[in-house]
Amino acid sequence: MLVLGVESSCDETALALVNEAGVVASVMATQMDLHALFGGVVPELASREHARLIGPLCDELWRQAFPGLDPEEGWRRVDRVAVARGPGLLGSLLVGVAFAKALAVSRSLPLVGVNHLHAHLLVAGLPHKGAGTTHLEFPALGVLVSGGHTHLYRMDSPSSMTALGRTLDDAAGEACDKFAKMAGLPYPGGALLDMLGKRGKAEPRMFPRPYINNDTLDFSFSGLKTAGALWLKNHPDAFFPHGLRPVKERLEEDAPQILCDAAASFLLAVAETLAIKAERAMGQFSPRCIVVAGGVAANSVVRRVFGELAARKSVPLLIPPLSLCTDNGVMIAWNGLLLAKEGMHHNLEMPAIPRGKPIPNDFVCA
Ligand code: KG4
Ligand code: ZN
Repeated sequence: MLVLGVESSCDETALALVNEAGVVASVMATQMDLHALFGGVVPELASREHARLIGPLCDELWRQAFPGLDPEEGWRRVDRVAVARGPGLLGSLLVGVAFAKALAVSRSLPLVGVNHLHAHLLVAGLPHKGAGTTHLEFPALGVLVSGGHTHLYRMDSPSSMTALGRTLDDAAGEACDKFAKMAGLPYPGGALLDMLGKRGKAEPRMFPRPYINNDTLDFSFSGLKTAGALWLKNHPDAFFPHGLRPVKERLEEDAPQILCDAAASFLLAVAETLAIKAERAMGQFSPRCIVVAGGVAANSVVRRVFGELAARKSVPLLIPPLSLCTDNGVMIAWNGLLLAKEGMHHNLEMPAIPRGKPIPNDFVCA
């Protein structure tokens, strides 16, 4: 089965074709530099950019997937159109959903709406080159950590994913980005903090592990953000200095050591908070593997701390390759394929669902 996936929920426009063996072709355009000018994603600009980019990207996907082949012949090989239908920025989602519906109608293909969050986790099971023998086995514990979301899931199958906990305020990535911004780093600063942290020494008591003295599996990272702001206020020497050259080029030479130490400490607080609640979730059921996914799964401290948890619990840890941790079209196509295999699709009424609203179980079963 060959599935086309469309992703446009935030600031990445991405398309991919996958089959049971893995990725056939994948293209993406990021708007990161545009939004960096404003210090965060500007929804109106994001949707306009999606609308501008999605058509040419589709042409590029076709060239990559079927070089030298008549596009009509390429289309005849496609079995489903999958699209991220939420959660995300509504204007952005609508571009991808309208595009996918148009393709589905014009090519008489079934449409499969995909939950963007589920897709982040399920892509850990995608076959890819260099993969070991570890498979995504159900039930699995899913830890989704991105710029907009922090969720713990019990994963029983691609169509049965139960949220056990979620953040009540800031997402883990958002907390990292805000701490980085307050320290003088450009948006999104999570990956830059990671680079700085690698040159620093973590002090476990520098920042709190927030919202752990309770019996829920929810998170709250706003207290950590405040602790970070307070620490920076008391340590003006930790700020990353202004300069003419791009920050990335000056990271090595210009970052104060005290900021590197704080970055390592902040990331340790984030990672340990996530792992504490993940371990508690494992008290509720016995997962056959732990999946950590989303942009923050790229973080080296998160990877290490979850590696230690998995080893302690003797459960395999699955983390998608870096290119599939941040938003991409492959994960949407793969999730669409898994749902299609279960006989699920949507009719053309399927609405896009913005962040904060529950995604309905409105599949039409074949
Ligand atoms: O999943 P994603 O691409 O987008 C969504 O939010 O849906 O995640 C982006 C987030 C941003 O907050 C970014 O700063 C963070 O992932 N991120 C990282 C790293 N790489 C990306 N945070 C910490 N360490 C990293 N290496
Ligand atoms: Zn995402």
